[in-house]
Amino acid sequence: MFDKITLIYIAISAIIPILYLIRFVTYKTKKKKQYVRALAISFLMFFILLFLGFAFKLVYENTLNKDDKKDNKTTTTEVTTTKENTTKVTETTTTKKTTKASSYNYDKILTPTGGEVIGKTSKGYEIKNVDGIYYIDGYLVANKTYDLPETYNPGSLNATVKAAADKMFAAAKSEKGYNMWAQSGFRSYNTQKSIYNNYVNRDGKAAADRYSARPGYSEHQTGLAFDVCATNKPCITNGFDNTDEAKWLSENAYKYGFILRYVKGKENETGYMYESWHFRYVGTELAEKLYNNGDWISMETYFGFTSEYGANKA
Ligand code: DAL
Ligand code: ZN
Repeated sequence: MFDKITLIYIAISAIIPILYLIRFVTYKTKKKKQYVRALAISFLMFFILLFLGFAFKLVYENTLNKDDKKDNKTTTTEVTTTKENTTKVTETTTTKKTTKASSYNYDKILTPTGGEVIGKTSKGYEIKNVDGIYYIDGYLVANKTYDLPETYNPGSLNATVKAAADKMFAAAKSEKGYNMWAQSGFRSYNTQKSIYNNYVNRDGKAAADRYSARPGYSEHQTGLAFDVCATNKPCITNGFDNTDEAKWLSENAYKYGFILRYVKGKENETGYMYESWHFRYVGTELAEKLYNNGDWISMETYFGFTSEYGANKA
């Protein structure tokens, strides 16, 4: 019922009241009165500690709407032999995007209206630009080719996405007893900037570009994506890959409209190393297609577009 850390916390909080209780029951009857007050106070303290502990846990695990939570966990380097740019797809993006600060309708980012058609993908899907945001076949795209305006800042996860995530995490809990939550959801342009710069300072630009998006290019800025963590499991690091929770997510996320965005072995398509923890909302219809009975297809390959810095020569 409780995880290890919670049990340790309860046990430590209970030490003093238990000692008082032992002292109380083992003392002679006539002296017991002296200890009644101390016993009551120690139990009161115990319940206050329990209450504070559970309140803290609740707040900590429900960070779905906590903006700008720094993604400071170590992403270890995965060595792949895949060479980038070996399977270039061609697409025609011809018109420069227009950035209209303060005109974004964040409630409608999943169902945009208007905008201008700026080209087609190599598989014939329409590329649109709506207020500086790129949509391919009606799906918002943020990757190395298609960036977001610096001013685009929904401030939190999209409400539809949050509701779907809550449903998914509740299902994982009731079906398997897994405790999962969105550790890092929405990240502003500036938060991404500082995360990316930290990684560049630590690992160098070429390495950082394989696992961290440059500011303006992160899906986290859209409010449609988040990184999942699970109680007592490696969090936002490759150690999460082989956990039961990661397996469950990979096999079930599509039912709630989420896709495993950075698919294993497809860095040359998505532009990023495999991330077993990063999920992106696209709705159940597309999610099921990309799930592809367990053999995930990347958005890039499904629609026929690239993820390369500088590829969108608009
Ligand atoms: N880790 C993903 C690619 C990001 O930084 O958005
Ligand atoms: Zn992520």
